[in-house]
Amino acid sequence: MQATAAATSNIALVKYWGKRDVALNLPATGSISVTLDRLTSRTTVRFDAALDGDVFRFDGEAAPAMGRRVSGFLDLVRGLADTDLCARVETSNDFPTGAGLASSASGFAALALACDEALGMNLSSDQLSALARRGSGSAARSLIGGFAEMRPGVAADGRDAYAVELAPPTHVAMQVLVAITTTAGKSVGSTEGMRRTEETSPFYAPWLDATRADLDCMRAAITDADLERIGELAESNALRMHAVMLGARPPLLYWTAATVRVMRAVQAMRGEGLAAWFTIDAGPQVKVLCAPSEAEDIEARLRGLEGVHDVVAAAPGEGPRVLETRP
Ligand code: PMV
Repeated sequence: MQATAAATSNIALVKYWGKRDVALNLPATGSISVTLDRLTSRTTVRFDAALDGDVFRFDGEAAPAMGRRVSGFLDLVRGLADTDLCARVETSNDFPTGAGLASSASGFAALALACDEALGMNLSSDQLSALARRGSGSAARSLIGGFAEMRPGVAADGRDAYAVELAPPTHVAMQVLVAITTTAGKSVGSTEGMRRTEETSPFYAPWLDATRADLDCMRAAITDADLERIGELAESNALRMHAVMLGARPPLLYWTAATVRVMRAVQAMRGEGLAAWFTIDAGPQVKVLCAPSEAEDIEARLRGLEGVHDVVAAAPGEGPRVLETRP
């Protein structure tokens, strides 16, 4: 009845920004990501007949807003497992939460796996990914190791909207350097940001078309293990996502001065012949894709930039894992 699972964050190389169904959390397009070997959420779930309500602790403390979201997710799990047991959920991240480091991705991936294990549901990889999607769209991809593609699906009930493996972590020699420019929480969450973009940005329809084309190119670049094509496409796709965000009213500007400084520095490094490309999610952090042989040099340069507090050096990683189960 108790299980602990760990899952890591993933970085989208072709982004998800827009929903075809809000209630079921179905994405408007597919997306492609790389699951990392760092930025881990660790979650323990205990279903317990002695509880008369769900209990949620984040880093040992009560976190009511997050707790409500977790409880909503537990309702889905209870429906699937046909139980009415309440649960105690304890989770911790080894990185700042809610600042564009996809903490919801690793968090809901770890929670989905821990629930499956604790209740002995034996869900398939597709089912687990679709379940994690209900918590957070990007979490569906953190259930898969290495390079993953989220399928948007066509079914109205979302049963075909889950992530699948494109290639194992060792397939492409690359590193992801996460430049942390602030540890403050983000201003507009992804659900509200997507809604605003869908309703007000005149660039939303072209963004969806461009993303569908980028998916085909990225799939081929990953198959060919071609870091240069992967990097160029990822950077371009990220900038297009920020363009559609900037077109919203009121506009969604997730960058800080330090974000732009890192973007410029990465472009300057490329001018010097280094293989480095950036990507940015709904927050101020910049993730730099680079070749492992140049990662140390690039990391030192990033650390030297004003406004960069820390750099987390990650590589493509295996999917989530169950750490412990107890009766
Ligand atoms: O999974 P969500 O709802 O936090 O949305 C993720 C959105 C982006 O991180 C900006 C893009 C992506 O595909 O991960």
